Amino acid sequence: MDRNYKIGIIKGDGIGPEIVNEGMKVLDALSANMGFNIEYHEMLLGGLAIDETGVPLPNETIQGVKKCDAVLFGAIGGPKWDNLERHLRPESGLLGLRKEMGTFANLRPAIVYDELVNASTLKANVIKGVDIMVVRELTGGIYFGQPRELLEDKAYNTMIYTKEEVSRIAKIAFEIALKRDKRVCSVDKANVLEVSQFWRETVIEIAQDYPEVELTHMYVDNAAMQLIREPKQFDVILTGNIFGDILSDAASMLSGSIGLLPSASTGKGVGLYEPIHGSAPDIAGQGIANPLATISSVSMMLKYALNEEEASVKIDNAIKKALANGYRTGDLSAYDAKEICSTSEIGDIIANYVCKS
Ligand code: IPM
Ligand code: MN
Repeated sequence: MDRNYKIGIIKGDGIGPEIVNEGMKVLDALSANMGFNIEYHEMLLGGLAIDETGVPLPNETIQGVKKCDAVLFGAIGGPKWDNLERHLRPESGLLGLRKEMGTFANLRPAIVYDELVNASTLKANVIKGVDIMVVRELTGGIYFGQPRELLEDKAYNTMIYTKEEVSRIAKIAFEIALKRDKRVCSVDKANVLEVSQFWRETVIEIAQDYPEVELTHMYVDNAAMQLIREPKQFDVILTGNIFGDILSDAASMLSGSIGLLPSASTGKGVGLYEPIHGSAPDIAGQGIANPLATISSVSMMLKYALNEEEASVKIDNAIKKALANGYRTGDLSAYDAKEICSTSEIGDIIANYVCKS
């Protein structure tokens, strides 16, 4: 098999460049060590794209990503661009890119590392062993629904889901569940919203094709509460765009820091791999951001996009080993830290470990 990979790189704003550099460092170490080749294509998105080209999603980026095998993305946005009109803001660039790429399935694993079981604000016995996969619909729902408008005396957005949109994300959740504990919890607000009732009915239909998977339903408000109360009850959480956005942030705190959680956005073609956190402008440029969510996103890329499963496992093991050895960035400094490391020091440690394993 051809093991020459074209990887799109979108560093973005805030801490984006710092964390993506560490992801690339680890990928370079692995490619040298495991005999595959990486060719990088750097592209613009978000605030930097606005500064350099006037728009958050330049045409070159839309065209560029299509030529890649996968895209690694950092984060976008910051106070500098907060007062722009909505369609010119950095966030619109990211949403537009997801839509253009057709990455409708956003996989957000929330895993609690044993080494960090004391890093959570929750009790160790509640979170030890948590392993949840949030499957978030990413290119539909209220984020994209028309009509939408901001007027003088009112504003509105529309939450729409089509049969096709719900069916295809539900299938992905069931397929993932088959490889895990075979349980899907579909999260909606069917007691209030027609769109959620439709979501639920469609998920039930798709479930007929997956008799081995146990399907349950939960209202989103209850799901938020249950995630904190007893997170181990969940295996796969299947949900829409905005509920998934909110619940995955909540789920990230089970692991101790949002700086740990990766994501993979897949769907029609090229996949987008990114940490679930934002651009953290308050700590940008200081070299203290946690790069593990990005490095872990590289692991997901190797597994899902490049079929380099062994390399992916090496990253996962290296992260566990670094945590077990007490290496921490500042966000985790209070939790059994033996050494507080900078962003690039953590990258060096992981790059070193993946070569030795
Ligand atoms: C995320 C982010 C984005 C989202 C923003 C930056 C548009 O919060 O990836 O979770 O809401 O999807
Ligand atoms: Mn979010």
